[in-house]
Amino acid sequence: MKISVIGCGYLGAVHAATLASMGHTVVGIDVDPAKVEQLGRGAAPFHEPGLDELLRDGRSNGRLRFSSDAADAKDAQVHFLCVGTPQDKTSDAADLTFLVSAARTLLPHLAAGAVVVGKSTVPVGTVEMLRGVLARRPDVLLGWNPEFLRQGTAVKDSLVPDRLVYGVDGGRGAAFNPSTGAPLGVTAALDAVYEPLLRAGIPRLVCNFATAELIKSAANAYLATKVSFINAVAELCDASGADVGELSEAMGLDPRIGNRYLHAGLGFGGGCLPKDIRSFRSQAAGHGVAAVEDWMRLVDAVNLGQRSRTVDLAAELCGGTLAGRSVTVLGASFKPDTDDIRDSPALDVADRLAAAGAHVTVTDPKAVNHAWRRYPRLRFETSTGRALEGAELVLLLTEWDEYRQLSPSAAGGLVRRRVVLDARNVLDADAWRAGGWVVRGLGTNAGMPTGGAAPATTAPATDRVPASRAR
Ligand SMILES: NC(=O)c1ccc[n+]([C@@H]2O[C@H](COP(=O)([O-])OP(=O)(O)OC[C@H]3O[C@@H](n4cnc5c(N)ncnc54)[C@H](O)[C@@H]3O)[C@@H](O)[C@H]2O)c1
Repeated sequence: MKISVIGCGYLGAVHAATLASMGHTVVGIDVDPAKVEQLGRGAAPFHEPGLDELLRDGRSNGRLRFSSDAADAKDAQVHFLCVGTPQDKTSDAADLTFLVSAARTLLPHLAAGAVVVGKSTVPVGTVEMLRGVLARRPDVLLGWNPEFLRQGTAVKDSLVPDRLVYGVDGGRGAAFNPSTGAPLGVTAALDAVYEPLLRAGIPRLVCNFATAELIKSAANAYLATKVSFINAVAELCDASGADVGELSEAMGLDPRIGNRYLHAGLGFGGGCLPKDIRSFRSQAAGHGVAAVEDWMRLVDAVNLGQRSRTVDLAAELCGGTLAGRSVTVLGASFKPDTDDIRDSPALDVADRLAAAGAHVTVTDPKAVNHAWRRYPRLRFETSTGRALEGAELVLLLTEWDEYRQLSPSAAGGLVRRRVVLDARNVLDADAWRAGGWVVRGLGTNAGMPTGGAAPATTAPATDRVPASRAR
């Protein structure tokens, strides 16, 4: 099929590349000419495992190209809208400006009977609003196909998704021919797009527009709830002498609960979860559903509270004040395996430490190039070893494998004080303590003394910390 993908960011670039890998002829359209140029060269403008290979394949077999001219989408039978829907600057609601602008730009180039399908995460009512934008083209069919991919595993998530959701006009009842059961309209078009996935047995759910629009926000709200729940319990663990790691392990073994998203730590960030739960809250408020509204407000507050707790604990580990202290932050991206720094908890905490007077050095395997211009108060270092030199406190804020595997003795030879705040609760605390380190986590401090009594260390380096894989 001939397909266009409008908006080639984290979602759209992956969607375009995976559709081309399924055999479709795809043009990706983006308003950012630098991004278009880079994608056209077969190079991803961001770190996403497996994407470069798909872009290069698509380029060499001629099935994938990129353009900043919407007219290049004119031959497509199906257009996917993948532009951003960030949080509005003055409220919790989603900003749909990019979506409206993309639909307007596409309008003069739509072929007769074309299908326009949104993939962005949007509030209920968005399809109806876009129908208004496309009103002079009643022949164009509209659908919503929310996307559930996760950055870091986006290629795999797109090629082997847990499910496909189609939002269609009139819902499931209108999606199939009542006598033959054959799919109709948008359902038939999307079945043709995703034919290899359906053949592989990926479940496909057909629903009405409102349901399709709400599913992604509800899914993210549930995941955020799980994270904030265990983080709230982590605080109770620290207050009561329990250990949240042992507690969540035991809880997660119950198959009704499961261990995913049940790991206490610094909490979530990124370009999706925070703005999606706020949009969900705002939608609930608009519909007068106070329970969801209050719930989301609490989930958000607990999540942001983890950042404050981390800063407070860092100050405590520095003897009560951060002023003048040399602090090293491991991690800048909002989560491992991506270079995305949108609403990164790690950078937020690092910046607050600097605001409190600490000399903060941040390192990250992939995100330094994205971060350094945006955070003038912070010093950035691409080598983990150099970043650790002379630190009086180390904070692990993004759980890259590289940091989980750090050698306590090698790291100990570089720092001035062997004190680590593992705000992701991923280090082997016993091994680090055996290496002479004071180790603190979030919810894992049962029986630990408080205060800044962490000893200075003079232990020599026995082996070197591996240099980071800087971009
Ligand atoms: N990032 C994820 O992991 C993910 C996962 C699922 C769903 N989503 C949703 O997908 C949507 C996009 O997210 P993202 O992370 O890819 O955002 P992004 O900011 O990385 O990408 C958006 C892209 O759209 C482009 N754009 C803006 N206006 C345009 C226009 N008029 N025409 C063409 N291109 C235009 C921008 O230049 C940018 O490249 C959001 O609604 C998000 O919630 C994201």
